[in-house]
Amino acid sequence: MQFQTVEASYISKEGCRLVWKGVDDDDTDVIILNKNELESLVEIFKKNSTGEVELEDQSSFIRVNSDVTQFTLTNHGLLEAKTAELQEQVLEFAKIPHEPQYVYVGSKEFYPSVWIRDDDKESGDIATENPKQSLIEAILSSEPEKIRQDLSPTDLFRVFSTRRSTRKFLKTKVEDWKIDKILSAADVAPTAGNFQGFQVFLIKNDKTKEALVEAANKQPYVNAPVVLVFCMEPSRVKLKFPQEILEKFSLQDATIAAAFSLLAASGVGLSTIWIGMFDEEKVKKILGTDLRPSSILCIGYPDKKKPPKSRRKLKELIKVIE
Ligand SMILES: Cc1cc2nc3c(=O)[nH]c(=O)nc-3n(C[C@H](O)[C@H](O)[C@H](O)COP(=O)(O)O)c2cc1C
Repeated sequence: MQFQTVEASYISKEGCRLVWKGVDDDDTDVIILNKNELESLVEIFKKNSTGEVELEDQSSFIRVNSDVTQFTLTNHGLLEAKTAELQEQVLEFAKIPHEPQYVYVGSKEFYPSVWIRDDDKESGDIATENPKQSLIEAILSSEPEKIRQDLSPTDLFRVFSTRRSTRKFLKTKVEDWKIDKILSAADVAPTAGNFQGFQVFLIKNDKTKEALVEAANKQPYVNAPVVLVFCMEPSRVKLKFPQEILEKFSLQDATIAAAFSLLAASGVGLSTIWIGMFDEEKVKKILGTDLRPSSILCIGYPDKKKPPKSRRKLKELIKVIE
């Protein structure tokens, strides 16, 4: 793990994120410092001295030595950074006034300027107090700490903003009630005409999982504790449209259902990897079906909990058509 950068935090509004990267592009470690922790670190660096910063949990700490700074964290391996490098980046970061960006709704640090129009006003809405304020600004200026405390682990927005794919699963068995929830999430997904133009295969035996690994370009994590194969079933879609439209609907039905299952899995503390890279014909043969597979969802307890990956800035993602 190599220390990479200091960046604005979207969880602790006046703190920062310290980011480490591993050899594998997917391997990242992040430590989030709150305002006080960051200030203590800045103080040590400003004095060019050495010292220790105790973190919020009172059992993790940062030890600033003259050459290397060590991060000893509870339930986590030791992380290190060259002191000179970290010092330069932290002091540089501290110079910039970072506006509060308490984005509890997602892993996005920036927001587009979408203005609330007058005719969108609704009484009691947090966005109505100042019509010139963007919705997200309104959310940010409303008591974020209180909102955060109210979030349950299954809160949809919390699931959105903390979810991260996993390619290393523990062997731990997934409880049946969790599998039920994941499958029922697929069942309640919206589908074209409510015809549910898809079918889910729940793979229980290890031989079939191994065969799926082979069919999925030898991706080893396909052999996960729970493996679901989502297939398109256009013949269920009893709508009077050309066959290609029905095919498209069933692809969308199967994809939304898989996404619902993915979120349900995250909501019950599991992690997933979505597999799109596979040989359709091989998968059909393994399952003994004529239905075209659209995705394989591999589910289990993650070997290591990782923070979400970063994305484009929201203002790059969203094009507002006035
Ligand atoms: C349509 C689609 C196909 C994907 N196919 C694969 C795949 O074949 N193998 C794999 O390891 N990951 C696959 N992924 C997972 C993505 O790489 C992963 O979701 C992405 O890097 C974003 O990371 P995150 O899910 O942690 O936010 C796929 C994801 C999607 C949505």
